[in-house]
Amino acid sequence: MKILQCSSLNKTYASGESTVHALRSITVGFEQGEICAVKGPSGSGKSTLLHILGGLEYPTSGDVLYQSKNLFAYNDNQLSILRRRRFGFVFQAYNLVQELTAYENILLPVLLDKKKPEEKYISMLVELLGIQDRLHHLPGALSGGQQQRIAIARALANKPAILFADEPTGNLDGKTGKEVLSLLKYVGKEMGVTLILVTHDLNIAEQAERIITLEDGSIAQDSSRQEV
Ligand SMILES: Nc1ncnc2c1ncn2[C@@H]1O[C@H](COP(=O)(O)OP(=O)(O)OP(=O)(O)O)[C@@H](O)[C@H]1O
Ligand SMILES: [Mg+2]
Repeated sequence: MKILQCSSLNKTYASGESTVHALRSITVGFEQGEICAVKGPSGSGKSTLLHILGGLEYPTSGDVLYQSKNLFAYNDNQLSILRRRRFGFVFQAYNLVQELTAYENILLPVLLDKKKPEEKYISMLVELLGIQDRLHHLPGALSGGQQQRIAIARALANKPAILFADEPTGNLDGKTGKEVLSLLKYVGKEMGVTLILVTHDLNIAEQAERIITLEDGSIAQDSSRQEV
């Protein structure tokens, strides 16, 4: 069974007099634990697809099933709880809370869920990501690579089933980007998390097990599909 499956997803935006077709009839599924890159030119719909798969945005039509349940059948509150508990998000811009220390940022989703942090698990994450000695700094005092590793720890703090990452290495230099990506892959594999990674960087995409290529809102290629 696929952990995440979408069918006939369409997304249109009104843009003045005209309509932008950001996604056109996308049907695709993801296995538990799979590492999949989504690539394609700017404007091809990568972020839109990621946001809809992650329940951050509604499609114009079509469904997204998480463990066979339709995301958009939940009300807003239920959907945000599901997102917080089962999904993790990493964005290009890190999106850390500037007033909180790195450690407080990592714990945020757990505390928002009114749960007690699992100290052991959090220390394991912190160690895997190599951020032990940065935990009590504010984000402003951290390098981009360090901030992104904190953001990854935060995204994994609730033990999500799926990690969605949109250009997570986009603001990092080539070397740091590679390191962050290896860490993402490593923790994903260690924890059996499904990783859906948007990137326009071919070198990064090629490190994934599967590559989906979007063109103009459609799937132009999917490396997991047999060519006909
Ligand atoms: N909120 C919005 N309102 C109107 N049009 C939008 C909106 N969001 C996205 N679009 C349009 O939808 C299309 C797909 O956008 P999307 O952001 O998904 O592309 P992308 O592949 O992520 O591009 P990039 O690589 O530049 O991030 C683009 O034509 C974009 O202009
Ligand atoms: Mg984008």
